Amino acid sequence: MTRGGWALLPLLALLLGAAEIRPTSEYLSPEIRAAQEDPSRHPGWLWVEEGEALWRRGEPSCATCHGNIAGMAGVAARYPMVAADGTLLDLEGRIERCRTQHQGEPAFGRESDALLALTAAVALQSRGMPVAVATDGPAASFLEEGRRFYETRQGQLNLSCGQCHDDNAGRRLRGDVISNGLGTGYPAYRLEWNTMGSLHRRLRACSLGVRAEQLPLGSREYLALELFLASRANGLPVEAPGLRR
Ligand code: HEC
Ligand code: HEC
Repeated sequence: MTRGGWALLPLLALLLGAAEIRPTSEYLSPEIRAAQEDPSRHPGWLWVEEGEALWRRGEPSCATCHGNIAGMAGVAARYPMVAADGTLLDLEGRIERCRTQHQGEPAFGRESDALLALTAAVALQSRGMPVAVATDGPAASFLEEGRRFYETRQGQLNLSCGQCHDDNAGRRLRGDVISNGLGTGYPAYRLEWNTMGSLHRRLRACSLGVRAEQLPLGSREYLALELFLASRANGLPVEAPGLRR
């Protein structure tokens, strides 16, 4: 579609009564949005620098096989994706596989500083590029799983994800402006966490928010959900590493 064609989409969505999905940066306060773009004011850049150092460390290092990290441009935009063996992998899961299968080292572990740092550094190479996850072929059944999870009312508050992230996007809740819940800014540095965190950590916070069961980081349910969120973001820019209040 042409640029002009895309510009008509919001109007089309309005006419069809569908919720419009906007880039997450548009929901951020002007201060946070500006700092997210400014490495000197974005604490997550410490993780990016550590990730770039880890990229060159070890024998073989990531760089030994992949060359300059700039060659990872566009990769994060395609994750999560289904690997050749049928497993749904997010970017963290893909990096852990290289760590164990190609480097012969023990996994870093979900939410470890090292894995967050490498993921942030790899994701940064795709910043500004449009999300482009595959939704057909082997991804289709995972996508359906994720969609069901997204649409199901959960927890003591009996709310679905969409009741907040579609129906109430743009409204304030406990000091936050509710976004479309896309995940395009993860891993993100959250000031409230005082550290970098993964999308799955953020999903656990939303599960807790509605008093539903918090699923494990890297669980099949959250991976399928992540794929569905990414499919909603297809065409919108990767914003990682994000900055959050
Ligand atoms: C011995 C070579 C080797 C090393 C070392 C290695 N990788 Fe890989 N990597 C591969 C291969 C081969 C693939 C393609 C998928 C496969 O066959 O596993 C891959 C795939 C990837 C992908 C997905 C690329 C895509 O287009 O989907 C990422 C991201 C990645 N590696 C990151 C890393 C990181 C980060 C490290 C260091 C922690 C690392 N790799 C270390 C060989 C390596
Ligand atoms: C009661 C309302 C509510 C429900 C229900 C809810 N969330 Fe959230 N969610 C929030 C708020 C508030 C935030 C923080 C502001 C923001 O980024 O949207 C948030 C943040 C997020 C983010 C991070 C966005 C970013 O870029 O930082 C994602 C992703 C997300 N939610 C996904 C989900 C999913 C998936 C579900 C269902 C399992 C869900 N949420 C259920 C209120 C909710």
